[in-house]
Amino acid sequence: MGTITLDKVTKSFGAVQVIPPLDLTIGDGEFVVFVGPSGCGKSTLLRLIAGLEDVTSGEIRIDGRNATETPPAKRGLAMVFQSYALYPHMSVRKNIAFPLRMAGMDKAEQDRRIEAAAKVLNLSDYLDRRPGQLSGGQRQRVAIGRAIVREPAAFLFDEPLSNLDAALRVNMRLEISELHNTLETTMIYVTHDQVEAMTMADKIVVLRAGNIEQVGSPLELYRNPRNVFVAGFIGSPKMNLIDGAEAAKHDAKTIGVRPEHMSISTTDGQWRGVVGVSEHLGSDTFLHVHDTGLADTLTVRCDGEIGVHHGDAVYLTPQPDKIHRFDEAGLRL
Ligand SMILES: Nc1ncnc2c1ncn2[C@@H]1O[C@H](COP(=O)(O)OP(=O)(O)O)[C@@H](O)[C@H]1O
Ligand SMILES: [Mg+2]
Repeated sequence: MGTITLDKVTKSFGAVQVIPPLDLTIGDGEFVVFVGPSGCGKSTLLRLIAGLEDVTSGEIRIDGRNATETPPAKRGLAMVFQSYALYPHMSVRKNIAFPLRMAGMDKAEQDRRIEAAAKVLNLSDYLDRRPGQLSGGQRQRVAIGRAIVREPAAFLFDEPLSNLDAALRVNMRLEISELHNTLETTMIYVTHDQVEAMTMADKIVVLRAGNIEQVGSPLELYRNPRNVFVAGFIGSPKMNLIDGAEAAKHDAKTIGVRPEHMSISTTDGQWRGVVGVSEHLGSDTFLHVHDTGLADTLTVRCDGEIGVHHGDAVYLTPQPDKIHRFDEAGLRL
């Protein structure tokens, strides 16, 4: 079991309230991602759940039981950090066994758990090595192994991939998703990277300044962002946000159009502009179009083979049913 409920939880450091009253329920077996800009309170929230920080007020329940005052080791949760914090002089086996040895667990049961975790993580052949003899990805897997053997009610990950290079990050992303499919244990995963959030989560919690801006599945957030912040934060490249007279035509303060929801033509269309920078990704090209008469540059996603060049005049036309409308307060209309 691994249901976690936060009930009006707040956190202040001195006079500064970092988490205003916050309610959240994480269901058993869910993969939940906390995402938001640096400093928005993601780690603090995770550490409150882990018990590494005390709440200022409110209640945390784990599987229905009040765990607000429960010490971290007794919460049945396992945390995986960005820095793997492995012991360099110990073998992989000893590193993974560490929490079990500390708990004084029977040796046979320790071995059973270590072998099982090593198998899931493809570390069976590396149990006798030292961390220094492993790649970055393998080290991260050892750190995860140390969490798995505890058989926690939930795994808590705080930006576990930010120290890895881009290719390895994509790989580990898949491995962690696969691990979740295998273990079916609740996972809470913190990242500032919305692509990680979109690709891994069952449920995304978007945070800004300690506030939950929106909770939903990746596609819910993509299709129906509740406000301008979520609209701009989820999706890559970012949604084009347009104010002024053009938005007023749609009876809105701001309208939003995603780069993939505009067509491009060299002869006619709604907004005429001039091609600036092109980003060629092979499969797609992102064109940045300026001098449209709208406030900002527009980004449009085109076919990878599109034959337009810097300085060309182009026309962009948004798909009418894909225009997002927002009011004065930035809320979705
Ligand atoms: N121990 C602390 N003492 C004082 N302020 C802190 C402490 N830990 C975090 N903060 C502040 O709380 C806010 C949220 O921090 P954090 O949860 O680390 O954000 P994130 O993980 O989203 O980058 C930041 O403004 C940070 O400076
Ligand atoms: Mg953090």
